[in-house]
Amino acid sequence: MLNVERANAVPGSLQGHASAPGKIILCGEHAVVYGRPAIALPLTGIRAHARITGSAPGSGIRFNAPDMGRRWLLSTTPGDPLSELTLTTLQRLGITGMPDVEITITSDIPIASGMGSGAAIATAIVRALAGAFGRDLSAEEVSSLVYESERQYHGTPSGIDNTVIAYERAIWFQRRSEPPHLIEPLPMTASFTLLIGDTGVRSATRLPVGEVRRRWQEDPARYETLFDMVADVVHQVRRALAEGNPMALGPLLNRNQDLLEQIGVSSPHLERLIAAARAAGASGAKLSGGGWGGVMIALVEPDAAMQVRTALLEAGATRVLETTIGE
Ligand code: PMV
Repeated sequence: MLNVERANAVPGSLQGHASAPGKIILCGEHAVVYGRPAIALPLTGIRAHARITGSAPGSGIRFNAPDMGRRWLLSTTPGDPLSELTLTTLQRLGITGMPDVEITITSDIPIASGMGSGAAIATAIVRALAGAFGRDLSAEEVSSLVYESERQYHGTPSGIDNTVIAYERAIWFQRRSEPPHLIEPLPMTASFTLLIGDTGVRSATRLPVGEVRRRWQEDPARYETLFDMVADVVHQVRRALAEGNPMALGPLLNRNQDLLEQIGVSSPHLERLIAAARAAGASGAKLSGGGWGGVMIALVEPDAAMQVRTALLEAGATRVLETTIGE
């Protein structure tokens, strides 16, 4: 915990607003926690927002998150991950005292669904604080502040979520035992359309991540082999993207799903949506993110998008989003 002291050095008219995108993992989730590569894409149209406004002297830092039905004071809830993130960010910005501000958080990104809602909210707060105090933080600095916060939600996050959201571009990510991790922007040579089907089942990422760790500890040889097979798929996806041949991705996404099922992070809800998408003409489909709930993605030719969307809704998807990558 940081030392919280009240300061009067900060002007009363502080204002800042920032947003950050959601994300999906195209391929490589879970194996990425064990040093294999993964590819993640920002969802620039679906965002979390943080707005900072100055408040009455002496009021301290107040959070207002209407979408989560929460309001709290930093001084009374200093252990909340967003309170801690705010204190750490202020420290990183060199702000020594406690400003009097309200931080309003809103988000279009469904929570606990594999779309990076937690990391996006944290990124928006860090950016808004930097903006309010007239400071510049690089994407790398934002990402590392958010990573520390993510650790509280996830236990052993790979760092892919905070990276793709802070950099806001398609990335190839490979965790190293010590930072800096390998982060390469992935140029898109052709565009492709993904439908994102939400099972409506909320699943905290740390649960499947913890279960995979338990299984890996029990049978490291089997899990290392599975992670290597995922890495092989991710390399092939990268090649298909570089060759401008996105439709070659379909069978690779299916293969990744098969491996995720063997790793033990799929679920009947996810598999119902995945089967429906494939039967309706998707060229490939898989879960995306932590699994056991959350979202799946389906690769579709533009003219098949409508029928796949309908099939997903009929199979129980609570919502279907569409995103075109590479435009
Ligand atoms: O936050 P989610 O649910 O999109 O999952 C992140 C991806 C994992 O590989 C499962 C975990 C991690 O930290 O990389």
